[in-house]
Amino acid sequence: MFLSSDGILTIENVKVTEIVEETGTPVYITSKAILENNLNAYKSAFPNEGLLYAVKANNNLALMKIIASHGFGADVFSDGELYLASLAGFDKKKVLFNGNSKSRKEIEMGITAGVKFSVDSLDELRTISEIARESGKEVEIAFRVNPDVDPKTHPKIATGLKESKFGIPHEMVREAYELALKLDGVVPAGIHCHIGSQILDLSPFVHALNKVMDIAKEIEQLGVDLRFVDMGGGLGIDYEGKGAPTPKDFANAILPEFEKRKAELNSDPQLWLEPGRSIVGNTTVLITRVNAVKRGYKNFVAVDAGFNILIRPAMYGSYHRVAVANKMNAEAEETYTVVGPICESGDILAKDRKLPKVEAGDLIAVFDAGAYGFVMSSQYNGRPRCAEVLVNGDKWNVIRERESYGDLIAKQKLPDWLL
Ligand code: LLP
Repeated sequence: MFLSSDGILTIENVKVTEIVEETGTPVYITSKAILENNLNAYKSAFPNEGLLYAVKANNNLALMKIIASHGFGADVFSDGELYLASLAGFDKKKVLFNGNSKSRKEIEMGITAGVKFSVDSLDELRTISEIARESGKEVEIAFRVNPDVDPKTHPKIATGLKESKFGIPHEMVREAYELALKLDGVVPAGIHCHIGSQILDLSPFVHALNKVMDIAKEIEQLGVDLRFVDMGGGLGIDYEGKGAPTPKDFANAILPEFEKRKAELNSDPQLWLEPGRSIVGNTTVLITRVNAVKRGYKNFVAVDAGFNILIRPAMYGSYHRVAVANKMNAEAEETYTVVGPICESGDILAKDRKLPKVEAGDLIAVFDAGAYGFVMSSQYNGRPRCAEVLVNGDKWNVIRERESYGDLIAKQKLPDWLL
């Protein structure tokens, strides 16, 4: 879907130069066709399972509407994500409210909306029970289990290790279910775990699934009628061009194991998954303009997007492929480090990449920027957030306008004595 025509990067049938002429740079450009391919790949790999999109990966309303229209549910991690998921039209019965530190306000909002909860502590359980009782409701819950499984990914995105802040240790979760069975207003109906993100080796998923199914067996004996087993998200994507497992590979790895272990149970839980990155990651390219090329100890390409726009390289040392979007047919000649405009030495988008000769005014494409891209952007250094565009065949629309200087002060107030 990302091809080139006359040496210009095209997204579906639209040249990026046509878009940036109108929107300016930086801009995130998403292909609807790639998004739909990803959704269909999940649906055909997991036809009978519950698929919940992890809203945190990209909460643009237009994209979420497409995802919801494909029948996906949603994993939300805050009141704001619940609000956005509701606007996008996700079916509330297929929304799971996750999070390790939910406020009373968030819990009230989730209960009013009628969503399910993944509960991360006994304190949270008691609060949910209290609020549910007061409002005369019954809330279906799962406990988030910490399975102590190494997902073999970047430590900052590993979430199921012993020392992780997420979940209840697997040896202690039985007590949590015992308490839930005694409390009013909560119905223990599921079990939840998420071991991490950008996982390329599928074996940790199988390992975690087995630990979760051991717990399922135990809690069933307590009287829990298990309706869902949610293994979270985490399937990695091919950032480096070295290959990555597909949803089908993922299904082949975990479905037979799930069926085998489910046969040991009396209840008939559905398997749920919460993919984020593998739904939106490869759908989007970030286009940023070269302000200057500087030759010195290193060759620097200074562009107009830094970690204010895409924080992943600075935060996790993540690799994103880059290309010169207006010189797609040119031979790679020189090694460059692509840096942003932020006043920090760590503001590096791509290190030591061989690219065609780069000049001021060129456009750099940063690929696979659809997950944890715009959502993690900021206004640091007084830079308004950038625009987002959705391409559909040979048409395109701005799906988020570039912020203005006014947005930098939108919520600021001056005390009277400074007016
Ligand atoms: N479910 C839960 C409970 C999660 O915590 C996450 C991601 C997901 C699902 C979705 O995981 P995915 O399929 O996207 O891997 N900002 C980091 C990633 C943080 C992931 C947080 N949790 C990055 O840019 O790599």
